[in-house]
Amino acid sequence: MINYIKDKIKKVINDKYQINVNVEEPKDIKMGDLAIPVFPIVKVLRKPLIEITNEVAALIKENVKDIKEINIVGGFVNIKLAKEELCKDIILEILAKGSDYASMPSNNQVVCLDYSSPNIAKSFSIGHLRSTIIGNSLKLIYQKLGYKTVSINYLGDWGTQFGKMIVAYLKWGNKEKIQKDPINEMTNLYVKFHEEAKKDESLNEEARLAFRKCELGDPTYLELWRYIREESLKESAQIYDLLGVSFDSYNGEAFYNDKMDDIVKELDAKHLTEIDDNALIVRFKNDMPPALIKRSDGGSLYMTRDLAALFYRKKEYHFDKILYVVGNEQKLHFEQIKEIVKMLGYDFDNEIYHVGFGLYLTNGKKMSTRSGGVVKLYDVLMKAISLAKAEVEEKNKDLKDKDEVAKKVGLASVLFNDLKNHRELDIEFDLDSCVKFEGNTGPYLLYSGVRIASILKDKEIDLNKLNLDLFNKDIYFEIVRTLANFNIILTKSLEENAPSHIAKYLLTLASLFNKLYAQEKINASDEYIRNTNFALIKAIRIILNEGLRLLGISYVDEM
Ligand code: ARG
Repeated sequence: MINYIKDKIKKVINDKYQINVNVEEPKDIKMGDLAIPVFPIVKVLRKPLIEITNEVAALIKENVKDIKEINIVGGFVNIKLAKEELCKDIILEILAKGSDYASMPSNNQVVCLDYSSPNIAKSFSIGHLRSTIIGNSLKLIYQKLGYKTVSINYLGDWGTQFGKMIVAYLKWGNKEKIQKDPINEMTNLYVKFHEEAKKDESLNEEARLAFRKCELGDPTYLELWRYIREESLKESAQIYDLLGVSFDSYNGEAFYNDKMDDIVKELDAKHLTEIDDNALIVRFKNDMPPALIKRSDGGSLYMTRDLAALFYRKKEYHFDKILYVVGNEQKLHFEQIKEIVKMLGYDFDNEIYHVGFGLYLTNGKKMSTRSGGVVKLYDVLMKAISLAKAEVEEKNKDLKDKDEVAKKVGLASVLFNDLKNHRELDIEFDLDSCVKFEGNTGPYLLYSGVRIASILKDKEIDLNKLNLDLFNKDIYFEIVRTLANFNIILTKSLEENAPSHIAKYLLTLASLFNKLYAQEKINASDEYIRNTNFALIKAIRIILNEGLRLLGISYVDEM
């Protein structure tokens, strides 16, 4: 509603002067609810400041409703809104629309999201968890704002590492052992390969040949490939089930094995390739290192497959935007892709976004699935759930469905701990602190919502009996203003592809609620005050739950 007034003011001014002004919300609400800096108008019209401020003030007074007071302070026209009515309208709108509040109608735009994308034959890593969590949240945010989404799990199911796997399997693999515990056994084989290859370099050559055979369609090798791929997917599926994540497509790198010729031919035809040391490369004008397109044996690379996938997706889905949710360490790779698209003469390079993210750290060091301590992600999530269960048991012994609640609380801990940080940052991963009910945690948000739910349990709210005077109190107005800003936060998250804005916003909202709770008697004896309080906190819970949903987190009613 505040945005509605903002837009109205902007329009009135633009209609008169054909100039766009900002309508700001002063940090100090004593300055007014809105402030219009008139300098842009003064600059264009070259009239005295005071003349313009007076003119703008009069213009607004005449044309915009719900305004109580207008003050001129220097180059600003400050506006006090008729808060009471405005606040009421905002709350009623949230209560009426429920979780649909701030949703946008379809804009007929398509966004492809490439995320999760684990490498098969290796354990699902913590980096892939980040990609899954951020990607899934972005998908939900884009959907909320009217986009059609295509979520793609671009499995790393092809490439030389696969050749290594096959060589290791054939040399040292024990079928029975593998069938019992495929992923662990394969991880062991993979590690063994690297150890042996240190002693005997020729193994790398063998692996390269093995993968080349796969590329050329060797049936025995492909059979093995299929088996390994399937077993790996089972492991990932466990995690997706737990997180409630799904994909529209699982077309991974292997899918593009027979779809790379066109792009390579096109690069050749447009004279963008050259031979270097028998390999085919693309050189860039700027100081980026060249991109490898074909090995000297004719084999393809990560880059080749990614290019084929990009053009395939453009053709298949006609995307307006494509997001690659992939760790920061692949920044160069995506810059090269964008540059190649430009060099080929296409103009959709600006539709390509590398949504990069930082590392998980434990005690300041990279948390890894490879070197030394193997972190199995499913186990990490299960650990979070069991810690949450202990926490829940301590807080609420008599709770029904403890396991179900613990599962949601545990997952909320991990997800929120991730998403509250801007994705570009590295994150300290400390399970013990993120399952706590206090602090800036997922459980804190769930708990705030539960508090509201318990206050409202079995209560009727009579929306005809509201005390609008309450909205003149700072805490009430601050809450409504925050609620009404939900859509701005959503837009910002979308523009920056950064769910952290929503996460931080939810923390603010929850702490405002807790402040209100500490400060006011919510279940007041005065009927009008009580109804207003109830309506307000019900609106808070709606936005809280919807915000959590957009982060991929489920709310609970009791905990
Ligand atoms: N499988 C790759 C990895 O784990 C990530 C793939 C990201 N997506 C892409 N289109 N390259 O490093």
